[in-house]
Amino acid sequence: MNANLASPGAAGAADPVDPLQSLWMPFTPNRLFKAHPRLIESASGAYYTLADQRRVFDCLSALWCTPLGHAHPRIVRAVQEQVQRLDFSPSFQLGHKPAFELARRIAQLAGRPHDRVFFVNSGSEAVDTALKIAIAYHRMRGEASRTRIIGRERAYHGVGLGGTSVGGISPNRKMFAPLMLPGVDHLPHTYSPDDMRYSRGQPQWGAHLADELERLVGLHDASTIAAVIVEPMQGSTGVIVPPRGYLERLREISTKHGILLIFDEVITGFGRLGKPFASQYFGVQPDLTTFAKAVTNGVVPMGGVLARSGIYDTFMSGPEQAIEFFHGYTYSGHPLAVAAGHASLDAFIEERQIERAASLAPVLENAVHTLRGEPNVIDIRNIGLTAAIELEPCAGQPGLRARRVFERAIEEGLLVRFTGDSISLAPPFISTPDEILAMIEGLRRTLRALATG
Ligand SMILES: Cc1ncc(COP(=O)(O)O)c(C=O)c1O
Repeated sequence: MNANLASPGAAGAADPVDPLQSLWMPFTPNRLFKAHPRLIESASGAYYTLADQRRVFDCLSALWCTPLGHAHPRIVRAVQEQVQRLDFSPSFQLGHKPAFELARRIAQLAGRPHDRVFFVNSGSEAVDTALKIAIAYHRMRGEASRTRIIGRERAYHGVGLGGTSVGGISPNRKMFAPLMLPGVDHLPHTYSPDDMRYSRGQPQWGAHLADELERLVGLHDASTIAAVIVEPMQGSTGVIVPPRGYLERLREISTKHGILLIFDEVITGFGRLGKPFASQYFGVQPDLTTFAKAVTNGVVPMGGVLARSGIYDTFMSGPEQAIEFFHGYTYSGHPLAVAAGHASLDAFIEERQIERAASLAPVLENAVHTLRGEPNVIDIRNIGLTAAIELEPCAGQPGLRARRVFERAIEEGLLVRFTGDSISLAPPFISTPDEILAMIEGLRRTLRALATG
């Protein structure tokens, strides 16, 4: 690596600064990484090539964002053509046609053709945008007292101040306590190993946990609550699958009390459960839906919010010449993201990739549950084309066991992701059944090697 990359002003001089030091890495133990850097050089299809030329299978579709595999020719071509035609177009007071068309296609794919789509650039921005829409919606309807948002323990809704506040992961929140939104409350999470260990798909136990929303309504009064936000399947904290009947019950209670239901589909959007959106998989319709990641197959950052048409119409009630929603980003509906979005949708639809994810789901389910009984495995759960393996933590060192698996799995040609002591799997939809079986066998060898090594 060129050391001069690191320090502006040091050109030509011997540069004492290791370029690895200049980058402050996100959600990474920086000192550990920089002592043992693990660099990726290139990617194609379902594989990365590391800097030492090892090829590794992408077990989590990058960060849940590349279900169509890397360097998909259709997306590469679309972005290359777009950058020559229109590289940027302001999104305030001006528009470019493909952005409008992409919004229509996404609403259709979600099975809600009348919904409106607001484009942003990430999942975090999508969440904060949805929260703003919810608060402003009630205010415009004359219910300005509805300011409270209900999140859920163990939730990950990105790193914006809204998303961090409604999120339920303590290390993400505690450093920033004074910045957390006032009035937020949380539902309990739904993971109870003793009641659902080794469930396949949705656990039978736990629908009653949705009644906690009724309790919070009793505590705070519905007139103070704007929205409840949940990930239909909690991805980032290790594939926490909603109990049967739970989301239906949340929908019932929120409708009863005039509370908006927000589904954060940043991970589940665009096919991870074998239907375009988790709302279709579970048959539960939210009022607002966030998406990001797979909308462009991760190629260009993009996110968005789908809003029920009635919510949009409420905003449209003021004078015609007035801006209705004082919110937006310079890069909302960026032409390159839109081009990548259209090409990704073409691939999802024409290559029947979501159907492919659905057909691979039982292959993953059957294979991953064969890891039951392997060393240190204490739970396995799955839904759609995703699964998690929970490991017995090393005494006094939470996260260490899973980190060791992550490191050893690279020797087996597997790039897995770990959170706490769980290993998450979400292979690309383009994987073959043999690749999924090989992934599980590689993990089995890893678990056994670590137990004896
Ligand atoms: C459910 C959910 N919401 C929001 C986010 C944040 O997305 P981003 O990292 O694009 O800001 C994530 C990221 O993993 C997520 O899983």
